[in-house]
Amino acid sequence: MKERIISGNVRDEELVMEQSLRPEYLGEFIGQAKVKERLDIYISAAKEREEALDHVLLYGPPGLGKTTLANIIARELGVGIRMTSGPAIERPGDLAAILSNLQYGDVLFIDEIHRLNKVVEEVLYPAMEDFALDIILGKGPGARSVRLDLPKFTLIGATTRAGRLTSPLRDRFGVITRLEYYKEEDLMEIVIRAAKILSLEIETDAAREVARRSRGTPRVANRLLKRLRDYAQVRADGRLTLKVAEEGLRMLEIDELGLDKSDQRLLKVIIEHYGGGPVGVQNLAAAISEEVETIEDVYEPYLMQMGLLKRTPRGRMATEQTYTHLGLKVPDRQERFW
Ligand SMILES: Nc1ncnc2c1ncn2[C@@H]1O[C@H](COP(=O)(O)OP(=O)(O)OP(=O)(O)O)[C@@H](O)[C@H]1O
Ligand SMILES: [Mg+2]
Repeated sequence: MKERIISGNVRDEELVMEQSLRPEYLGEFIGQAKVKERLDIYISAAKEREEALDHVLLYGPPGLGKTTLANIIARELGVGIRMTSGPAIERPGDLAAILSNLQYGDVLFIDEIHRLNKVVEEVLYPAMEDFALDIILGKGPGARSVRLDLPKFTLIGATTRAGRLTSPLRDRFGVITRLEYYKEEDLMEIVIRAAKILSLEIETDAAREVARRSRGTPRVANRLLKRLRDYAQVRADGRLTLKVAEEGLRMLEIDELGLDKSDQRLLKVIIEHYGGGPVGVQNLAAAISEEVETIEDVYEPYLMQMGLLKRTPRGRMATEQTYTHLGLKVPDRQERFW
């Protein structure tokens, strides 16, 4: 994954900022009204019954708040949280160690849960369903399996796409929730809240502009805001006015719709090398030196939502809007395949 200001992926230097900007309670979590309402009900019900919350699967594009929500759920439940990720759990023993250290009701958060390996996943099934660990003692014909009871816990899994999970794993989640791109008003509120935390004076119009160009993603909004704060400090008087924001965004090469150079390159490749498509995602990945997974999870969902890309059985295609947005002439009917 290349360094992109608009990528949804987190970078190390950002972790500290992410922590301080992260809402801690459901009431502070902006947007995603339906998700919040449902979670609020399930959390309250579990607390009243003094039971562990059902397992929760959160899915959606990077940077929309899956990790934030997992932390909020644990805090609202008043339980501990243990965080790990699919690729970090290499052997069944690693998972067994984590599970046997949980307390009753605790949350175990597994990020990128679609990347768990098969043998580890099989240990997870009985743990999720029966709160038990099956351990094999000994080897060969004398080997026997013993069952260890685990405290009831809540697994919260996060993934960019629910379709990536095997169905036995997906079926073991009681709550499956999809996070959507944020609306402009919600992102604006997130920007204003973040500016306050960063002690940055910001004009309402500037906040709206940042929101508009953040591709519906809070992480992107926070990142843009931080870069614009630098710009305002060095090139202006420190205040983020609309004018300063626009200049800063120009410097960052983020266009009107929030696309950066990489998005534009992807769209241009489809038009210039493949006559507007259709083109297979592998060819696209090779042409812009990105991984297929990054194209599918980071680039495409937003471009499709904006109507700038179509996914067809034969491949990816540009749309009329793609040409217009890039300032290119829309091809005549007979010249185009769409
Ligand atoms: N609803 C929200 N209100 C305010 N800030 C938010 C909200 N959602 C996310 N954020 C901010 O966006 C940042 C990214 O959120 P988070 O790390 O939870 O995303 P994520 O969905 O887990 O991403 P990834 O899929 O990459 O792990 C956080 O630092 C947080 O400050
Ligand atoms: Mg995360």
